[in-house]
Amino acid sequence: MFSSSRCLKNVTSIADLHALARRKVPRNFIDYFEAGSYAEQTLAANRTALDDIHFRQRVLAGANDRELTTTLLGQPVAMPLALAPIGMMGMAFRDGEIEACRAAHAAGIPFTLSTMSICSIEDVAAAVTKPFWFQLYIMKDKGFIRALIQRAKAARCSALVLTVDLQVLGQRHRDIKNGLTVPPEARLSTITQIATKPEWALSVLGGKRKTFGNLAGHIAGADGIVSLSKWTAEQFDQALSWQDVEWVQSQWQGPLILKGIADVEDARIAAKSGASAIVVSNHGGRQLDGAPGAITQLPRIADAVRSDIEILFDSGIRSGQDVMRALALGAHGCLLGRAPLFGLCAAGGAGVTKALDIIRKELDVTMALTGVKRVADIDRRALAD
Ligand code: GLV
Repeated sequence: MFSSSRCLKNVTSIADLHALARRKVPRNFIDYFEAGSYAEQTLAANRTALDDIHFRQRVLAGANDRELTTTLLGQPVAMPLALAPIGMMGMAFRDGEIEACRAAHAAGIPFTLSTMSICSIEDVAAAVTKPFWFQLYIMKDKGFIRALIQRAKAARCSALVLTVDLQVLGQRHRDIKNGLTVPPEARLSTITQIATKPEWALSVLGGKRKTFGNLAGHIAGADGIVSLSKWTAEQFDQALSWQDVEWVQSQWQGPLILKGIADVEDARIAAKSGASAIVVSNHGGRQLDGAPGAITQLPRIADAVRSDIEILFDSGIRSGQDVMRALALGAHGCLLGRAPLFGLCAAGGAGVTKALDIIRKELDVTMALTGVKRVADIDRRALAD
């Protein structure tokens, strides 16, 4: 059965989940999930920059009684993590957003629902017991955005994550070559790909929703076959500015997170904007190709604004060691995108749980071996010179 989690038995790393994901999900969707923009230089740089950061091994410091709990936006969390917003999770696994949200909540961390999700805000709210975060893209139709914010409020979302680095879509070559659409358009190459994944087809294509749940029925043209790149080009507001952040604040009036800050100057403005947190991120290498690995920007940003605003980090995190690296360089917590997504592709909610478990254990052992007992005590002293 597709939902079986037996395939997770020998999984010991996020790389194993990635390999399973590739076996389970049709190529056009895996390509979308894996892709970076253009030559994928930044996608690669995100990883190499993290790999270049080394730890300081400490011994005989008493490695017992470690504590991974901390707070994000003032709320207690079981570990310094949240699930990043990911478009089309419902194309990775049937009701993917609900599966992932339940797994995140069971692990004691926040889940972020993307504007470009398959399950709608209301679908997820009806299926889970705790509030989740909602990620917002600003489109030209401000009436729709106002309504979307109200829907997030009505669903008791506990934070709004405003993405600020994707008003123009960085081209992902593979999506164009694959003719990526939601739901999958009946062209020969797509049918051939889907035919090789019958379990996926039975599950995902048999699900209640097959297109963008937050948009369908609310915005013209979103009910049929939608290409993400065409949609973004037509609908997203390229004029987005700091004034719009103020406008969003006035509509939302709750904790606001600005996602996609990769520059000290922008971080300084963000720190004065009234937002509760920033996410230092280059969108997982999916937007500005040629930008440096995101982690290289974190120390400067942390030095400039850490005392004024909470800092989250994403882009390239694939292990608990990577989480430790980001925390050591000044992040309060990390958002996880592809790592739990590969788990979702592999085995639904059980795969997300597996991914979170792997990363939690890796972080815990790395803390022990660097002589750190509490998340709040992780700083640059954990790193080798
Ligand atoms: C959307 O956030 C994407 O990166 O495709």
